Amino acid sequence: MGWLGSIFSSKKIQNTDYLNFEKIGTDMHSHIIPGIDDGSRTLDESIALVHKFKSLGYRKLITTPHIMAEVYPNNRELINKGLGNLKRELDRIQLDIEIEAAAEYYFDDTFFDMVKTGDVLSFSDNYVLVEFSFHSEPTNEKALFFEMQMKGYKPVLAHFERYTYFDDFIDKANRYKEHGVNIQLNLNSLTGHYGQTVKKQAEKLVDNDLIHFIGTDCHRMQHLNLLESHAGDYYFSKLNNLQLKNQLL
Ligand SMILES: [Fe+2]
Repeated sequence: MGWLGSIFSSKKIQNTDYLNFEKIGTDMHSHIIPGIDDGSRTLDESIALVHKFKSLGYRKLITTPHIMAEVYPNNRELINKGLGNLKRELDRIQLDIEIEAAAEYYFDDTFFDMVKTGDVLSFSDNYVLVEFSFHSEPTNEKALFFEMQMKGYKPVLAHFERYTYFDDFIDKANRYKEHGVNIQLNLNSLTGHYGQTVKKQAEKLVDNDLIHFIGTDCHRMQHLNLLESHAGDYYFSKLNNLQLKNQLL
């Protein structure tokens, strides 16, 4: 086989190993309710995003607007109202896809109080998506996760690979896993979108089979386009071999 043959041959292999969005089925991390956080700004933008999710092969979306004290003071009412508006428009244009909403909670005292009172937006089997600060490691996270589990919630730690302050990164991921904390990977971390350190950490999570959920963390169309253009990359195809919980949602 000459050089031309090997190009066609490698392309064929790449296509076969393209990340299988239909098998993933559900995306469980996105910001597509218009106007309530730093994600989609308008209903039209949201509809375009849902179209794109569907064309990639997703059959269900669990969208997760930020809830972060003064920055994004969202609550159950606001989120459900936004979801209702989006669903009505999807019905009107007959864009058929399952869509639900939960939230992405910023780890702080306000969230801790919500957990204590049991007023938390969860998805599926009582999973709750939580994010840490990108700048410094929280100090009382063990108490929080313990409290969550006592209340029957199953914590999902958002984009674990983006916390670059973990110097013992893989040990940390293993410890969280042992303590029942689910680890979520942002797909675009594998593209280098968040920088090379994050990309390396994302690859380590894949190599060590430490991922429970994968999510797009889609805020805008650029995120889905980038994802689509990289879905044949080596590490994306490796995801096809992992047992992910997305398929159970
Ligand atoms: Fe997010």
